[in-house]
Amino acid sequence: MTQLFFSDHAAGPAAGRPLVIFGAGGLGREVLGLVQQINEAHPAWPVRGFYDDVAPATPTVAGLPYLGTGADLNATDELLAVAVAVGSSAGRAAVVARLTSARLAFPALVHPGVALGPRQRIALGEGCLVQQGCLLTCDIRLGRFVFLNLGCTVGHDAVLGDFCSLMPRANVGGAARLAPGVYLGTGATVIQGVGVGAYTTVGAGAVVVRTLPARATAVGVPAAVIKQHA
Ligand SMILES: CC(C)(COP(=O)(O)OP(=O)(O)OC[C@H]1O[C@@H](n2cnc3c(N)ncnc32)[C@H](O)[C@@H]1OP(=O)(O)O)[C@@H](O)C(=O)NCCC(=O)NCCS
Repeated sequence: MTQLFFSDHAAGPAAGRPLVIFGAGGLGREVLGLVQQINEAHPAWPVRGFYDDVAPATPTVAGLPYLGTGADLNATDELLAVAVAVGSSAGRAAVVARLTSARLAFPALVHPGVALGPRQRIALGEGCLVQQGCLLTCDIRLGRFVFLNLGCTVGHDAVLGDFCSLMPRANVGGAARLAPGVYLGTGATVIQGVGVGAYTTVGAGAVVVRTLPARATAVGVPAAVIKQHA
């Protein structure tokens, strides 16, 4: 996993490229809002439009054009920056696996109000999206394509693997470890030091107090496994 500290990533090589959003649904429009907020603070990304495998009902989305499918995006002859606006961890991983063109770059996009200074020693992988209102303290590692939706908190020494997805107001305690692909529903909490296995889903409002296995669904307070997937 290639990871850079955020201060390195902020001046990444894709800066200034036209940016497109993969995902023309509601989350895509929210990610457009994130990019617009970044641009208001410091003009960085001219937004070109949306790609999605399913064409939207209208030719434009939030005033920007629908540009084609994932296959079209992968066949581009332009150098583009891409934000992957797919909320499901597995769905986002599947999209990224198909976007293999060397012309595509996946910058980390962080709301300008989220503090990520060098003294916090926070590392982000490519493609991370960090929405408004998130609070991250120090010595945290986010893998590739981690999505922190609105108002999430992440404590000291936490590690979030590739493609983890935290829905609004989810909380990850100090030194907690989320394996790749973990999905935390709205308002879910993982207390300090606890691990969650790969591609496990934690339901909205749940509190994880003991390590959860991989590929499970857990709900409630304390969180209990209700489904174990193959
Ligand atoms: C946990 C979750 C993934 C389960 O979805 P599912 O696999 O389709 O499960 P079901 O809806 O069949 O529910 C199974 C059981 O768990 C219960 N349940 C579902 N979600 C629950 C939750 N968050 N907390 C407590 N119980 C929950 C259901 O009531 C049902 O109980 P029953 O068998 O006694 O009737 C889903 O309900 C959830 O919480 N998703 C997070 C949504 C979210 O935060 N979205 C963010 C959008 S920005």
